[in-house]
Amino acid sequence: MSDVPKKLYIKTYGCQMNVYDSERMAEALGGQGYEQVDSPEGADMIVLNTCHIREKAAEKVYSELGRYKGLKAANPDLKIGVAGCVAQAEGAEIMRRQPMVDLVVGPQSYHRLPEMEAKARSGEKALDTDFPEELKFDHLPKGRKASRGPTAFLTVQEGCDKFCAFCVVPYTRGAEVSRPVSRVLREAEGLVEQGVREITLLGQNVNAYHGQEGGEDWGLARLIRRLAEIDGLDRIRFTTSHPNDMEDDLIAAHGDCEKLMPYLHLPVQSGSDRILKRMNRGHTAQEYLRLIERIRAARPDILMSGDFIVGFPEETEEDFQATMDLVEAVNYGQCFSFKYSARPGTPAAERPLVEQAAADDRLQRLQTLLTTQQRAAQDAMVGREVGVLFEKAGRLPGQMVGKSDHLHAVHVQCDLPVGTLARVRITESGPNSLAGELL
Ligand code: 5AD
Ligand code: SF4
Repeated sequence: MSDVPKKLYIKTYGCQMNVYDSERMAEALGGQGYEQVDSPEGADMIVLNTCHIREKAAEKVYSELGRYKGLKAANPDLKIGVAGCVAQAEGAEIMRRQPMVDLVVGPQSYHRLPEMEAKARSGEKALDTDFPEELKFDHLPKGRKASRGPTAFLTVQEGCDKFCAFCVVPYTRGAEVSRPVSRVLREAEGLVEQGVREITLLGQNVNAYHGQEGGEDWGLARLIRRLAEIDGLDRIRFTTSHPNDMEDDLIAAHGDCEKLMPYLHLPVQSGSDRILKRMNRGHTAQEYLRLIERIRAARPDILMSGDFIVGFPEETEEDFQATMDLVEAVNYGQCFSFKYSARPGTPAAERPLVEQAAADDRLQRLQTLLTTQQRAAQDAMVGREVGVLFEKAGRLPGQMVGKSDHLHAVHVQCDLPVGTLARVRITESGPNSLAGELL
């Protein structure tokens, strides 16, 4: 093997779990002599880490692959891989439709990448979309990259057993699995040694976390409280949660664990009980609202965030109004909303779509309301004192940018280094960020 590092380009689509996975893949291939680069030109290996959650995801992947034809023609040694949820859903079909793909790897098999890469290098096609018994993260090579920013993701749980009628996750990521407590703690401690001050715990259903330690079952709240004991770790967040797994001790942690940040992403998808039932969400709108009351009783200034789907099969104008009413009742600080997209293989994909013009119109009305709430929550921060963890220099000279406790981007004129957690008074609220001054 030559000493010159081979160049690896990874393009990541979709959720934060994919961002985390891409980092792990880069590390796994680092052991094979690869160094990550920012552009596909001149790369020795290109990996697309794909997402299958909405809209024509597979088509986007095929058209992106098409763009690499010239690169492959110029460099026959270039290896091309497809990873992530489209790889899981499409499998060998990807190589049939796009023969220049050398490697297809599903989200549960990344620890097998080094062998797969070697196989691809020898000229064979490599395909792995198994759900192996071993947990991929615990079989990936140790030693994370040397330099990193002050925030990091840490996946603690993967997969989902909820089977919401619209969602591909239970099929692409498989059954719910939690990583052992000791592994999570070791990884968190390693990150803090590298200068990380904020960790976001990730999982498709992160609040269903149930790790084992000392013969006991650890829920997410206990894990968070244990992580909070790590010196040098200042902030803990977690995402994404399901309302039905929001246990009492996790709600309580929002009130009494200082390092747990006052922001909670708790998707409800719809405000109509009829639609919630058809979505197989397992709770009513009233139960969700009651839950939010309890969370706010524990942490009054918590900023709520959520996801909504409009135009789910059979959604009527009345159902949609119930969603708007729920949004009014909750008053979100931030939200993501999507038009329903039929995902092959899910139960809802068999049902007739609502009229698309109506769905588009509902999405627009919902987004208008959500944007108003988001802006109001941001404006309400003006005059308040918040913590800001600086992540990078701002666009203007002498300016730093970081995130507040409530996850707002905040610009501050100062020369404090990246990684500083400062107290800041918010002075202004702009369209997408706040401005403040050091206290
Ligand atoms: N169509 C539209 N939105 C979807 N989501 C998940 N599946 C679909 C789908 N088939 C949304 C949900 C989920 C978020 C990650 O993506 O709102 O919470
Ligand atoms: Fe998908 Fe529902 Fe599981 Fe979330 S809880 S990943 S929406 S099946």
